[in-house]
Amino acid sequence: MKTAEESSVTLLAIESSCDETAAAVVRDGRRILSDIIYSQIKTHTLYGGVVPEIASRQHVEKISICVRRALDEAGLSLADMDGVAVTCGPGLVGALLVGVSFAKAAAYSVGLPLIGVHHIDGHISALYLEKPELQPPFLCLVASGGHSHLVLVRDYGIYEILGQTRDDAAGEAFDKVARALGLPYPGGPSIDRAAAEGDPHAYDFPQAKIDGASYDFSFSGLKSAVLNELNRCQMSGESVRTADIAASFQRAVVEVLVEHLTRAAEEFGMKTVAIAGGVASNSCLRRTAEEACGERGLTFICPGPRLCTDNAAMIGSAGYYAYIRGVRSDLSLNAQPNLPLGTRERRYHANLKGGVSA
Ligand code: KG4
Ligand code: ZN
Repeated sequence: MKTAEESSVTLLAIESSCDETAAAVVRDGRRILSDIIYSQIKTHTLYGGVVPEIASRQHVEKISICVRRALDEAGLSLADMDGVAVTCGPGLVGALLVGVSFAKAAAYSVGLPLIGVHHIDGHISALYLEKPELQPPFLCLVASGGHSHLVLVRDYGIYEILGQTRDDAAGEAFDKVARALGLPYPGGPSIDRAAAEGDPHAYDFPQAKIDGASYDFSFSGLKSAVLNELNRCQMSGESVRTADIAASFQRAVVEVLVEHLTRAAEEFGMKTVAIAGGVASNSCLRRTAEEACGERGLTFICPGPRLCTDNAAMIGSAGYYAYIRGVRSDLSLNAQPNLPLGTRERRYHANLKGGVSA
């Protein structure tokens, strides 16, 4: 087994947990040699959201093409790889299974090590691709369609969860509100665009505060407030001010996310603050978080939009740090739709400083 000090480690990485089929070749966790993403968004837009069965079928159709292209663009063959990293959870079970099965077969066919990767570990590791000089510890908000986690990155792959959502994930709230407003899937980018024309202070939507677990999130009350406003407009025959609602909703989400981030940075003495995951491509979140960090003298990091949403390069980076720690999966590796983030998960409670095990 190679160690970090020895010659470089090149991994083939595969991601298929939701509606992107992706393959990449990544060297030493920091350098992308190729990065192929086949997005299924066009198909799922027809249904207003991801249809799991259709997602699985499209992964089956596209995965070998994506892997072939990733290897070709890197100018390497499967036998040149040092291992195969694959997202094994969380996500849609049928979708995950396609990537996991393909990765197992690829690794077995040429005798390569297999490394199962947690999807959120991937989103956080996208930051190492964005900023090659970045090193833990730092604070990271991971906000995507399935997750909203506030995480202390203690070391590579070592995470302490300070807070997470009690109900909808941030991206899920964007998707649901967009759908109610009649905006196309995926809802995040649609709301981002609509909000650019609206007044963020037109409505004062509620921002949930949670007693006893001050870093948790809740977006269902906010979503209900938007739905109630739409209902009220319909009942009274008033026209819906889509841009104003989108902008006010977006402000409410962003203010909560940034307040949690800056408060945790101060409390835990973190000088570097990052955001990751699909919602991190939101223009208002990026701007607001960057300003808030700047005012406090904190370094702010955010991946470019392509590295925020699902991709395989981030899995190649997370896979590398697992690889050099000696992590290996065997051929019994399975798709785990509810895979928890690591074994060192901790939930921080405001009234129990230092945290207790979740
Ligand atoms: O990380 P990701 O590609 O997949 C998951 O792991 O879920 O995130 C997708 C989510 C969707 O909910 C999408 O609406 C949201 O990220 N998203 C955005 C933006 N771009 C994508 N949310 C807000 N603003 C955006 N610009
Ligand atoms: Zn994701």
